[in-house]
Amino acid sequence: MPADEGSLAHRRHVPFRVIELDSLTDRLDLARIFGRAAPVHIDLGCGEGSFLCALAQRMPDKNFLGIERLLNRVRASARKAAALDNVRLLRTESFYAVRYLLPAESVERFYLLFPDPWPKRRHHGRRIFSRDFLDSIAAALEAGGFLHVATDQSDYFQQIEQSGRVHPQFEIVRRDDFILPLTRFERRFREQGAPIYRLTLHKLWERGGDRTVSAKPLGARPANR
Ligand SMILES: C[S@@+](CC[C@H](N)C(=O)[O-])C[C@H]1O[C@@H](n2cnc3c(N)ncnc32)[C@H](O)[C@@H]1O
Repeated sequence: MPADEGSLAHRRHVPFRVIELDSLTDRLDLARIFGRAAPVHIDLGCGEGSFLCALAQRMPDKNFLGIERLLNRVRASARKAAALDNVRLLRTESFYAVRYLLPAESVERFYLLFPDPWPKRRHHGRRIFSRDFLDSIAAALEAGGFLHVATDQSDYFQQIEQSGRVHPQFEIVRRDDFILPLTRFERRFREQGAPIYRLTLHKLWERGGDRTVSAKPLGARPANR
């Protein structure tokens, strides 16, 4: 158990899987937080944590961080994660965490699944996905890392797809064999028969302003890593 968990365990209102930040500006020491060095996957807006915990159970060799701004959902996630050593929760705003708290090139996969849709045009500025957001994701991802996105909003999806297409550090994955567990919102949308749009972005191994850099095969790692 990481040293900081013991101090939280006695506080009944804070489940011990929840990270307590010492600083709002220092980058997270992920190996210390998880008590081991392992590839890190991050679920942005993890809700009540069922997706996060299902994935963490499936991949015990990876570290899973759920980021969520609502306290009751963080608590629900932490309760589900009680028996999972490889899960931690952080209650904060996702974009802030990606931009200011995550070390450069520290994340193997991000998941942004059914982000708040803000369907009214006058609210589109509140949507989390923007060019700035994608730049921050690129900085936090390892070379060859992935961002998985899903939404039920067609116009939001088109914006995300277009951003991925023109970003010099990403390519769109055409055939994604990485099967994800259902999220709570996905279950709900499926029951309603709502359309679901998905996209996986792959961070290129080398920065290529002219988009001509070819990515190595999915899942492959350069020999020196
Ligand atoms: C529509 S729900 C989807 C939850 C989960 N990903 C799923 O698919 O079931 C969006 C979640 O993201 C959280 N959220 C929205 N914007 C956020 C932000 N900027 N930072 C952190 N969490 C956010 C909400 O509180 C909510 O739990």
